[in-house]
Amino acid sequence: MPIPESFLDALTERCDIADVVSQYVQLTKKGGNLFGLCPFHNEKTPSFSVSPDKQIYHCFGCGKGGGVVNFIMEIENLSFPEAVKFLADRVGMTVPEDGQDQELPRLRKRMLELNKEAARWFHAQLSQPAGEKAAAYLQKRQISRKTAVNFGLGCAPDSWDSLLKAMAEKGFGWEELVRAGLATRGKQPGSAYDKFRDRLMFPVLDVRGEVLGFSGRALADGQEPKYLNSPETLVFSKRRILYGIHRAKNTKRGSMLLVEGNIDVVTLHQAGFDNAVASMGTALTTEQTRLISRYAKEIVLCYDNDPAGHKATERALDILKDSEFSVKVLKLPDRMVDGAAVKIDADDFIKLHGPEAFEQLLKGSGGGMEYRLLELTTRYDFSDDGQRVEYLKAACELIAGLGSPVEREVWARRAAEPAGVTGEAVIREAERLRKKRLSGEKKQYERSSSRPASQAQPQEKTLRYENIVSARAEEGILRLLLQDPGLIKSCPLPEEEFSSPFLRGLYASLRRRQAEGLSVNPSALLTSLSEGEAAQLTQILQTQVAPGSAGEALADCLRVVHTEYVKRSGDLAAIAELMKNKR
Ligand code: UTP
Ligand code: MN
Repeated sequence: MPIPESFLDALTERCDIADVVSQYVQLTKKGGNLFGLCPFHNEKTPSFSVSPDKQIYHCFGCGKGGGVVNFIMEIENLSFPEAVKFLADRVGMTVPEDGQDQELPRLRKRMLELNKEAARWFHAQLSQPAGEKAAAYLQKRQISRKTAVNFGLGCAPDSWDSLLKAMAEKGFGWEELVRAGLATRGKQPGSAYDKFRDRLMFPVLDVRGEVLGFSGRALADGQEPKYLNSPETLVFSKRRILYGIHRAKNTKRGSMLLVEGNIDVVTLHQAGFDNAVASMGTALTTEQTRLISRYAKEIVLCYDNDPAGHKATERALDILKDSEFSVKVLKLPDRMVDGAAVKIDADDFIKLHGPEAFEQLLKGSGGGMEYRLLELTTRYDFSDDGQRVEYLKAACELIAGLGSPVEREVWARRAAEPAGVTGEAVIREAERLRKKRLSGEKKQYERSSSRPASQAQPQEKTLRYENIVSARAEEGILRLLLQDPGLIKSCPLPEEEFSSPFLRGLYASLRRRQAEGLSVNPSALLTSLSEGEAAQLTQILQTQVAPGSAGEALADCLRVVHTEYVKRSGDLAAIAELMKNKR
């Protein structure tokens, strides 16, 4: 049984959205609303608004929105029942007990227990005969016993069922291991085998030290894949975690060092760089930057100095573009072997040159612009006039994107130097490009705002309106009814005349709530909606209402919806009737 609506109403009444949001976002009053920097995307000017009247939040930048429960689900990464529990605890309410509400948290808790037991067992194998190969591998990679303990490293033996057996002894069934991504279902019904075999195991911990999942490195050369990671599970979501964060969160360095690999993280910590984390083979996500922002103001990107690493750096710089972070890029030098350049990663560098040298690299790391210009210079041959022009064009493109004229001037001079032209020429060209770009953007904005039909479509594809004219009026009806619930009772429109299933559902739910004596405010409706639906409803509520009486506006909307409904029905007599009335 779901959580009773009456309980949800009582809960949302007690949890003022402004109070809750301000625990996460600094809000300032502007008109009737509160504004702050959106916690769901990176930005420098506040477009995240909270309406204390309507008890909703809405971001004009990324479109996210909802009520207090939606906010907690999103920001704390909780399921619906968990978010309800979270808020209830906050105001001293108890969620009515019943099996299903507790199901998900119970499953998650059990999975975390299993993961912890598995991590312990993998770790214990390192000192067993079955783990000799892995222990030798650690030695080869110069990872000390102490570091292995700090990171809880372990070994998955070369066996099909040793973990399954060990966990069975602890009371965990094979289905549980499959669900946790530790075992794979076999061909025979009811059978399973260990997923991680013959691998060095890296448990992936969150900031609280819970084991969310695993990453296993091949021990044998040529064993594919090189790294095997836990699949997405109830507790493991790659885009939301960073390998090493459980230790890096305690760093005193004030920055986070972002590297590519697990081994890099472990080696760096061992060498005294206790702020290293890795995003486990995927591009940096905004969820991860949000996680980092709790512990550091500066991010140093230290990806491999190869094409894949450059791409990852570009993407990370892009994600961090409008963030509050100060961003630096640490460039690893190539290693020269017999006159040829060999690409190395942070782990290789530390082992070749030691921690001191790495500290120097860290000190010398520059900002994103410096990195991009440097990258650019390596791609052109400056003895060739044509290539110099190409280089300058590309450099001006970069410089034109900088917001401040002082920055543009400084970087224009820097860019001019290697190409042997004057700074002034580059400045002029960059300014020209910038003007051209700005006017292009303005035109695009004007075009898009004069195309209301496309703007009126919900962001979420599944909610797309088939009849825009009717849907707009349906939105108007909902807006008016939510603003003035006294109108709900007398609203004569039958539900089936709504063209949008989503809006029809909201209308039906409003009428039912009214009949059952439940609350009929926006936050009550929002609580039960998905992320995309909540965003759309807040968008509707944020739209300005045309001046005039609510009753008249409602009558107008009702007329439009009814007319469109009759048109769709294909009932010729009814259509004729409509036409007659029009005249
Ligand atoms: P690398 O191949 O750079 O590995 O992949 P590494 O950490 O430097 O390991 P060593 O030094 O060769 O032992 C970087 C990261 O990408 C992810 C892993 O998280 C790895 O640490 N990855 C790599 C995978 O998820 N799967 C793969 O097959 C390879
Ligand atoms: Mn490596």
